[in-house]
Amino acid sequence: MTATPLTDPFDRAIRYLRVSVTDRCDFRCIYCMSESMTFLPKAELLTLEELDRLCSAFVRLGVRKLRVTGGEPLVRKGILTFFRAMARHLESGALEELTLTTNGSQLARHAGELAACGVRRVNVSLDTLDPARFQKITRWGRLGQVLEGIAAARAAGLRVKINTVALKGENEGELFDIVEWCAAEGHDLTFIEVMPMGDMGGTDRLDQFWSLSDLRRRLEARWRLTDLPERTGGPARYVRIEETGQKIGFITPLSHNFCESCNRVRLTCTGELYMCLGQEDMADLRAPLRASPDDAALDAAIRAAIARKPKGHDFDYSRRRVQGQVSRHMSHTGG
Ligand code: 5AD
Ligand code: SF4
Repeated sequence: MTATPLTDPFDRAIRYLRVSVTDRCDFRCIYCMSESMTFLPKAELLTLEELDRLCSAFVRLGVRKLRVTGGEPLVRKGILTFFRAMARHLESGALEELTLTTNGSQLARHAGELAACGVRRVNVSLDTLDPARFQKITRWGRLGQVLEGIAAARAAGLRVKINTVALKGENEGELFDIVEWCAAEGHDLTFIEVMPMGDMGGTDRLDQFWSLSDLRRRLEARWRLTDLPERTGGPARYVRIEETGQKIGFITPLSHNFCESCNRVRLTCTGELYMCLGQEDMADLRAPLRASPDDAALDAAIRAAIARKPKGHDFDYSRRRVQGQVSRHMSHTGG
């Protein structure tokens, strides 16, 4: 059965769903969570069956790309059951891509099975190659474990994209090392500007802010960069480093340069649908999901939500005040 694909008021077809399957994580990155982070009671979470039903509804309504996020998705108990369920949509051709964003801590044990489910690419968050700094940034993480996970992913045939958050005074001095390591290992690389989200337990996010325009200037002092025209509907812009042939992504979520082509929505682990990462507006899909085993009410709720997708977000770092700050955590909405 073919339903009319989801289209928002600005004529953007919604093809991309990011789904957070847990708000929990085995790390406590300084820009993401406070060390005393409190998590949702387990009863609040959608079950794996409910996640399957909800994501399958989106696929039926035209979503072609599904990205599984968290928190750390691979710490959710039984999560491979969910990946196996989504694999059926890849097999039928309804879904074009199934991917995940992970901190890599559990990849060594799951990479093979993820590949068997049809996952082809994985985004791994890695901000430093220095073990001591890694521990400082993630608080609870071990670099060696993540590097093993990345190696296992490659051995299983997965493409790896490294996501590196640019952190002033932390990984600034490692810029060239990270780029060269990715070139040598054959990983894609994207730099991300730190975003004003959640309560930081006293840390001022602006102190961590290292602008990607400055990062880019430093790359340009060493290599020849060529801007690439390609866009993926997301916030990333790409350049090629001529000397290494690498394609590098830049995600500057605070600029408005990508909203017009935004094709994505985000689902939290409790069934809230956020139409924009930078806005508070959301729709509860758990209620219609649980109200009836029939998907009619659910589909109607999804369509009503998409009809409210805003034109863009309100983040603005100018005048050194965080305007339009969003109080929820990245681990709630998914990165
Ligand atoms: N700003 C930018 N990126 C963040 N992430 C988590 N919190 C933030 C933040 N405040 C990133 C992680 C990972 C992805 C899931 O989101 O580093 O790459
Ligand atoms: Fe966990 Fe990722 Fe947040 Fe770090 S950034 S605490 S790895 S969810």
